[in-house]
Amino acid sequence: MAIIIDGKQVAADVKARVAKEAERLAELGITPGLAVIIVGDDPASKIYVRNKAKACEEVGFYSEVITKPEKTTQRELLEIIDSLNKRADIDGILVQLPLPKHINEKAVIGAISPKKDVDAFSPFNVGKLMIGDGVFLPCTPAGVMELIKSTGVEVSGKNCVVIGRSNIVGKPMAMLLLQQSGTVTICHSKTENLAEVCSKADILVSAVGRPNFVTADMVKEGAVVIDVGINHNEEGKMCGDVEFDEVEPKAGFITPVPGGVGPMTIAMLMDNTLKAAILNAKSAAKKSGKK
Ligand code: GUN
Repeated sequence: MAIIIDGKQVAADVKARVAKEAERLAELGITPGLAVIIVGDDPASKIYVRNKAKACEEVGFYSEVITKPEKTTQRELLEIIDSLNKRADIDGILVQLPLPKHINEKAVIGAISPKKDVDAFSPFNVGKLMIGDGVFLPCTPAGVMELIKSTGVEVSGKNCVVIGRSNIVGKPMAMLLLQQSGTVTICHSKTENLAEVCSKADILVSAVGRPNFVTADMVKEGAVVIDVGINHNEEGKMCGDVEFDEVEPKAGFITPVPGGVGPMTIAMLMDNTLKAAILNAKSAAKKSGKK
């Protein structure tokens, strides 16, 4: 029987710490501000954006949701980002993905000032992460690291297997595990003997996006199993990548879906926005000191 990792609780702890810091900043007249841009009508994106704004309210941040129609041009979007880059009351800028097909996602993400890139998706921040200098850590992988920390299991020296190689989760996830001295393998759709590779993992992170993808034969006895998947089964019920009922008795620790990784992504976004506000306040103070 595995210990179920309570993502809601760990996320609440992170948010409580951020809220406390925000209170301290408020005494200095600083309110962290997050702008979230959503283009189009993707229903899942709308829910995520609403939850991000709600979290800002909970921790005492200012938030601004900019909702644009599907037909918005890339140029219009770049203009919005440009004006947000210049605003002193906005510390973090997030463009909800996916964007409509006629907009070049890379161009848009690359236009966000690295100092306000709280998703840590821009090439600058991805590079910083790669060399171990990351200020903003990508929210979902950073949230997974917090969950692993909450188990008390040390990453150092452990076999860590990440299934999935996306820029948002798989690749940065592997990098964070490596930074904590894990022995890291990234698996993907072309991996041979996937089950065998996974079954050697002390820490297994699945970010595939397919229900029931991780079965008991792929899991080592006592492993930490982290399920990043957000899928819906045939009955329309939310589920992860892991065949929970069969894996749970074998694992040492396991995250549920919902209530595992999901709440962490937004909690880490709040943490990044707080960091951005502190850095921006410091750099504003430095500039005014020079005058
Ligand atoms: N779409 C799915 N996940 C994310 C995320 O973490 N950030 C943004 N901006 N869009 C997403």
